[in-house]
Amino acid sequence: MEFDEHRAAMVAQLLERGEMSGRVAEAFRLVPRHLFVPESDPAAAYRDEPIVTKRDEEGRPISSSSQPAIMGIMLDQLDVRPGGRVLEIGAGTGYNAALLAHLAGPQGRVVSLDIDADVAAAARRHLDDAGYPEVVVACADGAAGFPEAAPYDRVIATVGVWDLSPAWLAQLAPGGRLVVPLDLRGVQVSVAMEYAGDHWSSRSVEPCGFMRMRGPSAGPEVMLMLDGEADLVLTLPEPREVGDVVAMLDGPAAEVAAGVPPLSRLSLIGSGISLWLATHEPRWCALTGRLPWAPVTTQGYGMTVGLADPDGLAVLAAGTELLTRGYGPGGAGQELLVRGYGPDGAALAAQLAAHVQAWDAAGRPEAGDLRIDAYPGPAPDGVAVIAKRHTRLVLSYD
Ligand SMILES: C[S@@+](CC[C@H](N)C(=O)[O-])C[C@H]1O[C@@H](n2cnc3c(N)ncnc32)[C@H](O)[C@@H]1O
Repeated sequence: MEFDEHRAAMVAQLLERGEMSGRVAEAFRLVPRHLFVPESDPAAAYRDEPIVTKRDEEGRPISSSSQPAIMGIMLDQLDVRPGGRVLEIGAGTGYNAALLAHLAGPQGRVVSLDIDADVAAAARRHLDDAGYPEVVVACADGAAGFPEAAPYDRVIATVGVWDLSPAWLAQLAPGGRLVVPLDLRGVQVSVAMEYAGDHWSSRSVEPCGFMRMRGPSAGPEVMLMLDGEADLVLTLPEPREVGDVVAMLDGPAAEVAAGVPPLSRLSLIGSGISLWLATHEPRWCALTGRLPWAPVTTQGYGMTVGLADPDGLAVLAAGTELLTRGYGPGGAGQELLVRGYGPDGAALAAQLAAHVQAWDAAGRPEAGDLRIDAYPGPAPDGVAVIAKRHTRLVLSYD
């Protein structure tokens, strides 16, 4: 199959899953992703998967072309209108900037920033090759925005942000909209926000998972590369002491049922349970890597969440049914287990199961049920107030 056929198949698949509007799908149909990931073969360029294009010295991904499905979801959240002025933080390959340029049309204007000079230069080349010379690419720390071309009708970050930068809010035109992968104590959600008098209020919240912003406005989250070979990364919302996780994982596990009816895939990833744990439990952690037993796996790469302290680790694991049959249509109906490792493992496993049961009893809230209000000043009481550098976030479930 040639590039065009692969592209048409990918768009058809995304549309079938109901993950994007016709307008955004049309942009995906017209912008050739393969010109932005020239190292990838036709099938890989049009798989609905992220493509890592740069890693740091420890092997952690620091630049990529994001997964098309989440790009589409965020472009719908952003709702770029013809003639719109758009600022993107995180140029990466330049692919999303091209989609934005397509949506903004000939009267629109797109500026895309990347902190790395080599990445910005590659994005510039790709955009020229694909026929988008009018997109402005600059090498800069995105936290400062790009005042030279402000104001913007839309600001989007395609890199995980820890806080809302005052520069983005200041550079948005009245009635403007901001879409960012926002950190909520280590879990990310893509939130679309608009100004609501004295604060910024969410219009939609979607689960997502992006690499984090680097530079002076990076957040305190820690991503510990535990084992390069197995791509094993432990994520903590901020620095704290944990035990020797690799040694614990090699040792015996205490296994108990999570004690909840079957769960969908979406409830497990950066949405339902992760978000609940992150907002209710200071010891929460996420573990990703070659974990065949993880409740969420794609091509042998797994993700799980749980609790970590210096003497133990407890994480969610897939039941045997999941391992032998995989996810059913819609990802429903899988048995969930809790595994505890290390001296504290059994106690932590019981506490993790109790959290999962509390989330279940609360009606299994998901990211989409969440409302986020960001106050530049003092905030009223909410379900949880998360204090950032510049804003205080109030979370409440609808
Ligand atoms: C997931 S990639 C963006 C994908 C891109 N939109 C595309 O379509 O290919 C995230 C990018 O954010 C950049 N980045 C990280 N920290 C940044 C910062 N402080 N300012 C601007 N860009 C940053 C990284 O260099 C990386 O290229």
